[in-house]
Amino acid sequence: MAKAKHPILVLAGAEQGDLRALEDYRRVGGYASLEKARKLGPGATLEQIKQAALRGRGGAGFQMGQKASFLPSPGQAKNPIYLVVNADESEPGAFKDREIINRVPHRLIEGIQIAALAIGAERCFVYIRGEYLSEYEVLSAALAEAEAAKLVSVPILVHRGAGAYICGEETALLESLEGKRGQPRSKPPFPALVGLYNSPTLINNVETIATVPKVIELGGEAYAKIGVKDSTGTRLFSLSGDVVRGGNYELPHGTSFRELIYDCGGGIAGGRKLKAIIPGGSSSPVLPADQVDLSMDFDSVQKAGSFLGSASVIVIDERACLVQLALRISQFYMNESCGKCTPCREGTRWIEMILRKIEQGRASMAELDLLSDVCDRVLGKCLCALGDSDAMAVASYVKHFRAEFEAHIEQGGCPYGDTSSLVGVRSPVDEIYRGRIGQEAAL
Ligand SMILES: Cc1cc2nc3c(=O)[nH]c(=O)nc-3n(C[C@H](O)[C@H](O)[C@H](O)COP(=O)(O)O)c2cc1C
Repeated sequence: MAKAKHPILVLAGAEQGDLRALEDYRRVGGYASLEKARKLGPGATLEQIKQAALRGRGGAGFQMGQKASFLPSPGQAKNPIYLVVNADESEPGAFKDREIINRVPHRLIEGIQIAALAIGAERCFVYIRGEYLSEYEVLSAALAEAEAAKLVSVPILVHRGAGAYICGEETALLESLEGKRGQPRSKPPFPALVGLYNSPTLINNVETIATVPKVIELGGEAYAKIGVKDSTGTRLFSLSGDVVRGGNYELPHGTSFRELIYDCGGGIAGGRKLKAIIPGGSSSPVLPADQVDLSMDFDSVQKAGSFLGSASVIVIDERACLVQLALRISQFYMNESCGKCTPCREGTRWIEMILRKIEQGRASMAELDLLSDVCDRVLGKCLCALGDSDAMAVASYVKHFRAEFEAHIEQGGCPYGDTSSLVGVRSPVDEIYRGRIGQEAAL
């Protein structure tokens, strides 16, 4: 949990214990924002969200109010308007949405009702990661309680996914929700105009929606004063990796990586040196250790060449071989590529194969250039950002740690030998590669 001097908004009231029961949530002012929004009416409620400049917490960081304003108004829409909440949370390093659902499920439900009111939605859906069974049960129980208390005026359906990372991509999610294979749609049209069942649809992340009650409680302008310009409010930072106290820390945007890692997370065990930081989940480009004093806000991290993304901060200490780390990440994206578009399907495989060759000491310098070339050929050419995520992440490891890649090639093997902290942590897809020696030899 965050230190007391920081404002806590999304997890407010849960400092002493979970707020799963309706009466506990009510005790900390729960559902007062919904009442306030009902008095304000749809237009003024949406205006508060716009004034808050609330940026999406799922990855792309688009302003929620702006996205909502792309929807037709309920009077103009030919089809019903839908609200979809993205609770797929499958990005390696991300585990904040599950904590919100587990600890303050009613804040999500209240946020859904306020957002539905603001956009004139007829029905709401929560698409929850299939593996989050206990979170599904907690949310379903809270929903049943809220329904019984007549707090839910726009129906909410909770739908469980079946374990595919791609279904977190908003259009693949919609396909999956419609009962089809979860693969991205080509865009435009964007979901705001043609979304679920061809209807105008607003899609937002769990944390984005769970922030809405506090926006209404404080007022948009007051909310926008928390954090920094263009990255307003607090954020749940999921801290993991080589750090003493991993976990979710709710802190204002603008807090530095150093404060998160050392003050909140207790630093790195054994006094080891920081080597790199992944700032926004595995899909975000890696930052070298000298960026530790960078402010954790959307624009600062982007200026430094990466993304804040889902604010999933992974700490990497000096023991890690970064070729192994890039390889591990590329294996994830290769395995999760849905195969619908060629640059991603083929590109993620090529990236993984070349990295594997480098790690095993079988690659030439020309193949290191080939790796960068393949990354360039994937970037910006895929149906969705999955291929881009792989290409951008891998390219960043080569950019910042090129000497380490070259050392593998020059020495004909991993300079870390068996000492890398990643050795022995077998990826579940490793078995697959055993049958792929032929392909690798042909490379
Ligand atoms: C491959 C892929 C996986 C994604 N997974 C998630 C996810 O698990 N949860 C999420 O909220 N957004 C995910 N996104 C982003 C969504 O497409 C979308 O931008 C987000 O749900 C919008 O909500 P927000 O504006 O509140 O951030 C993913 C995107 C891609 C390309």
